[in-house]
Amino acid sequence: MTDRIPLAAVLGQPIHHSKSPRLHGHWLRRYGLPGHYIPIEVSSGDLEDVLRMMPRMGFVGANVTIPHKVAVFEIADQITDRATIIGAANTLIFRADGKIMADNTDGYGFIENLRQGAPGWDAGAGPALVLGAGGACRAVITSLLEAGVPQILLSNRTRIKAEQLQEDFGKRVQVVDWVQVGNAIEDAALVVNTTSLGMVGQPEMRIPLDGLQKNTLVTDLVYTPLETNLLRVAREAGCRTVDGLGMLLHQAVPGFERWFGRRPEVDDALRDAMLT
Ligand code: ATR
Repeated sequence: MTDRIPLAAVLGQPIHHSKSPRLHGHWLRRYGLPGHYIPIEVSSGDLEDVLRMMPRMGFVGANVTIPHKVAVFEIADQITDRATIIGAANTLIFRADGKIMADNTDGYGFIENLRQGAPGWDAGAGPALVLGAGGACRAVITSLLEAGVPQILLSNRTRIKAEQLQEDFGKRVQVVDWVQVGNAIEDAALVVNTTSLGMVGQPEMRIPLDGLQKNTLVTDLVYTPLETNLLRVAREAGCRTVDGLGMLLHQAVPGFERWFGRRPEVDDALRDAMLT
């Protein structure tokens, strides 16, 4: 057992679009580590059987993506607090005894990307305006609250979904109506887009942005294109901006470190490798 080359994978359906194999492959090559990371297409019906078999095959862990991020909760033997709060998992650790631990590193990736992209960012500087209320949003809210953001102004086209999140996260989250979002921008120290608006093939973000203040930091989870319309307008208004690619890169760090034994770096070489 001891000389086995560590294996890891990303499980999803479909899986061909996943950037994770390229990301982990880059790090493995760069650090000259033994190990392999592969995409595996798995249906929901097969997920449990596949996961139970993987540790016996030499897998040390896996990422899970759509549609398995919530379903994996039913299978995991242990779930981290942050995965529980977020309500989904993206990273699995297979322990030596074959038990499966489920974690969620999306919020970690989001905050690390902000810290790297906007050095000196002060979470306590003022309210954060968060656009959207989908899956990715829960990780963003969790990590912003943990980082010490005093208040989150949460706005979503479908207001009831924002209200549900407000109920889950408590009074530091305040719901702003989607048609009022232009006013809330003026008060925000940080603006985060977690919607799919602005992504290639999706509608453009149409909210009024003229209230943006120069000292507001603006970030977008969308990374195709790398500079979304929101980020371009913010940059032209003199704001600091952070694109969304880094979140994908940073969320992979804890898994890679656990599986392959070395904390990898997120730097320009990695970004370039992901963009070519
Ligand atoms: P993810 O898991 O990536 O967050 P999701 O759960 O499908 O994806 O959420 C997509 C988000 O984009 C939602 O907040 C959605 O708003 P609704 O809850 O009203 O659907 C938002 N979104 C998608 N298309 C939109 C549009 N045309 N206008 C405004 N918001 C939109």
